[in-house]
Amino acid sequence: MITLDVALGDRSYPIFIGENLLEKKELIQPYLAGSEVMVVSNETVAPLYLDALMTTLEGRRAEAVILPDGEQYKTLEHLNTVFTALLEKRFSRQVTIIALGGGVVGDMAGFAAACYQRGVPFIQIPTTLLAQVDSSVGGKTAVNHPFGKNMIGAFYQPGCVIADTSVLNTLDDRQLSAGIAEVIKYGLIRDKVFLVWLEQNMEALVARDTDALIYAIEQSCRNKAEVVAADELEHGQRALLNLGHTFGHAIETGMGYGAWLHGEAVAAGMYMAADLSCRLGWISQTDVAHVEDLLTRANLPVKGPAIDPEKMKQLMAVDKKVQDGRIRLVLLKSLGDAVVTDHFDAALLDQTLAQCQA
Ligand code: NAD
Ligand code: GLY
Repeated sequence: MITLDVALGDRSYPIFIGENLLEKKELIQPYLAGSEVMVVSNETVAPLYLDALMTTLEGRRAEAVILPDGEQYKTLEHLNTVFTALLEKRFSRQVTIIALGGGVVGDMAGFAAACYQRGVPFIQIPTTLLAQVDSSVGGKTAVNHPFGKNMIGAFYQPGCVIADTSVLNTLDDRQLSAGIAEVIKYGLIRDKVFLVWLEQNMEALVARDTDALIYAIEQSCRNKAEVVAADELEHGQRALLNLGHTFGHAIETGMGYGAWLHGEAVAAGMYMAADLSCRLGWISQTDVAHVEDLLTRANLPVKGPAIDPEKMKQLMAVDKKVQDGRIRLVLLKSLGDAVVTDHFDAALLDQTLAQCQA
């Protein structure tokens, strides 16, 4: 098992990465605040892994609330079912909430933990690659609003993250690829060495080679932990983790939540960011072709869906990076070095939006 640390002073926490961690009682016990536990999962993940987790939690007063499966249910309305379950069970401030699922479950359970009785202990057990490399780490929690993605939420760090790589065996190939999009992101924004490794090992990753998967999760979490430790509340460099996300969130909202997977929308968004960076003269066409090749080898889209460019810009304007009404984008100075900027010619953005549609 690999252990990484998210260094946040007295709120620091470990990320455990390895096989068959779900069954390890001794791993989770120190992070359970009291005898009460509420597991939040969904109707797909619970039949697969809830029994194993409940066995691990034997001896505690453990209950579960099962949410419908899908990005379209990441809403305040469905979050309320978690609060109702907690109150029905008369769970106290000592309850530990455990997220057992992908990023949707993790974001909702984390937000519930941040709000219930003004904050209760929280553990992330991410079950998708995307959640293991990104969403379970760093304390961003949220639900969607019809007008914008992840617009209602809180920063709330977990007590630990348990990334059991064995559960990825049941994940379908499309979801695996969606997770690889966020893995590629770390290479593009800040880690040239990892980017080279990805270029050399993409086929092994797509084929779920265990060593390749564990290495990719470790390097992704290491990068994320470093960024979060330096800028927990996103006053600066944490925004770089949003490479492709302003375009991607607009695609997700514009197409209707769930139509495009988050990772797929981010992949198309990262290609758009590369295309715009090239139009600005920052990276070369060869670099853009490199990005395209890597995404394509991961079975990810590089072109977005056909959304009217004016509509795309309206959707992109509902973004947490917007300042004084100006869209700010994460763009590439080189492969492995990103910046956040609002200094781009609007006409070049128009060209990117027009060119990068399927
Ligand atoms: P998801 O949670 O919808 O999971 C994808 C699908 O896989 C779902 O159908 C789920 O039920 C299923 N699934 C989960 N684990 C499985 C397993 N082990 N075996 C079989 N099926 C399994 O999607 P996701 O890609 O994990 O997460 C996307 C969400 O994460 C988005 O809402 C996005 O906004 C959010 N996100 C948050 C952060 C953050 O920092 N908080 C970062 C990135 C993404
Ligand atoms: N996924 C972006 C962040 O955690 O900041």
